[in-house]
Amino acid sequence: MSDKKINWHKIADHINELDFADNNIAVVEIKGKKICIGRHNEQAYAFAYKCPHAGGVMAGGFIDALGNVVCPLHRYKYDMKTGRNSSGEGYFLKHWPLEIREEGVFVGVEETGGFWNIFR
Ligand code: FES
Repeated sequence: MSDKKINWHKIADHINELDFADNNIAVVEIKGKKICIGRHNEQAYAFAYKCPHAGGVMAGGFIDALGNVVCPLHRYKYDMKTGRNSSGEGYFLKHWPLEIREEGVFVGVEETGGFWNIFR
């Protein structure tokens, strides 16, 4: 009964075009909403701009050696790939599939019945 559909949004022609800060996190906009792109071990991941705990700006955090993004506010950690709260507080970081294709870098956003539901 679900009519979920993934729409792929192009965010750059090439991964090197993204404006990564020193912390390996870039901020991009999809339909006017900010999301983060994190880079780790030659892979890139798309995740929420704000922390699900208390709204810390994830782009101001850092990526640890294991590929977790660490929130700058209370240092909760999230696996960029799965959104799992790897420091164990029970939160979940919204994230989206990211594909690097010949034509560019794409982020997949689920749309349900025309309602764009990725942001809370
Ligand atoms: S707001 Fe991110 S850990 Fe508290």
